[in-house]
Amino acid sequence: RVVDADGNVLVPGIIDGHIHNREPGLEYKEDWESATRAAAAGGVTTVVGMPNTDPVIDRPDHLELKFERGEASAHVDFQSYAVVTSENIDQIPAIDEAGALGFKIFLGSTVGDVPPPNDGEILEAMERIGETGKRLGFHEENGEIIDHYTEQFQAEGRTKPIDHSHSRPVIAEQEAVERMLTFAEETGAKIHMFHVSSGSAAEAVARGKARGVDVTAETCPHYLWFTEEVMREKGNVARVQPPIRDADEQARLWNALEEGAIDTIATDHAPHTPDEKKVDDPFGNTWDAISGFVGLETEVPAMLSFVDEGRFTLEEWVRRHSTRPAQVWGMYPQKGSLQVGTDADFTIIDPDAEWTLTDRDTLHSKNCVTPFEGESFTGKAVTTVVRGEVVYEDGDVVGKSGYGTRVDVDTE
Ligand code: NCD
Ligand code: ZN
Ligand code: ZN
Repeated sequence: RVVDADGNVLVPGIIDGHIHNREPGLEYKEDWESATRAAAAGGVTTVVGMPNTDPVIDRPDHLELKFERGEASAHVDFQSYAVVTSENIDQIPAIDEAGALGFKIFLGSTVGDVPPPNDGEILEAMERIGETGKRLGFHEENGEIIDHYTEQFQAEGRTKPIDHSHSRPVIAEQEAVERMLTFAEETGAKIHMFHVSSGSAAEAVARGKARGVDVTAETCPHYLWFTEEVMREKGNVARVQPPIRDADEQARLWNALEEGAIDTIATDHAPHTPDEKKVDDPFGNTWDAISGFVGLETEVPAMLSFVDEGRFTLEEWVRRHSTRPAQVWGMYPQKGSLQVGTDADFTIIDPDAEWTLTDRDTLHSKNCVTPFEGESFTGKAVTTVVRGEVVYEDGDVVGKSGYGTRVDVDTE
């Protein structure tokens, strides 16, 4: 552990394996430049973009477009997942060749309305992706259950933010996880569960690991920080898919995390405009609001606050927020390690800094709505270094837009 005179600590560069950078096509929400500026300011040295852009990243040329835009403007290093739908299973080898970090299937309907493939198509996709050596991640919610309750709640005139949460029950998440574990056991595919929100789903992952399925899982700071009470306190600002769960599910998620069911921490950084988030009327009709919020500049502070509270050690945090994401997605040791000398990525943190996010507009994204506004933290990133170059220092993003580059993937 490297500690300087001020008590700051140098750790391997923090990796966020789940951001919605929104480019190409949704630049009114966010773009590569603004997302990676926020990453640099948050102490994050590598980000992986989600494919629910416009166009969706479902073909080699769309992936290449996304990479080109990133090369032109990113402040930190980046990669991207490609989506699998009913329409593009035959293109999996070509998308692999084009350099995608991994693949993603949206099981339930979520932002962007990327339709899920059917179960047969998912099995076939797992077999094809297995041949590439890459990993397939899931938005792990059963869409049929969610659509059923959404329609029922709307017919009953239930419009509160908490109703949105309850329309996406834990069983929708747990069932999706169990089904994908069964499919992965059959096909031998490497799978990943993005944004695991509940103890029930995390325990299902643990059972899958115990029986030898190659499954990894992620959770996000908001599931560990807030309980569903936040929907009553902050309303649609905290609306997210999967939703933030009750205290019992959260306690069991913490247990599963401590016992190793959860491999990685990532944000699900999902910027939307204040108007889309309905910030002027946060307790208005939840069906008019949108799900998701930013996180790149609060993830390191949130996790360091948990370290400060003694929920886990600094080393355990670094493993889940740097080493493991690099290993899970085939970027290790190029990323997630200090062993690569002058080309290393690292983050310098001040573990004792006490501060409050009083004004969301001090963040660097294009749209900064987040339920973490008003929250207090112990800890923050003070310096961010990507391949030997300082990109953020003492409150200023000092790196050049376009310095960030695509991470090459090694799945061997
Ligand atoms: C994400 C988005 O806005 O793209 N929103 C969310 O609530 N998580 C979509 C997603 O991650 O499923
Ligand atoms: Zn999702
Ligand atoms: Zn997401």
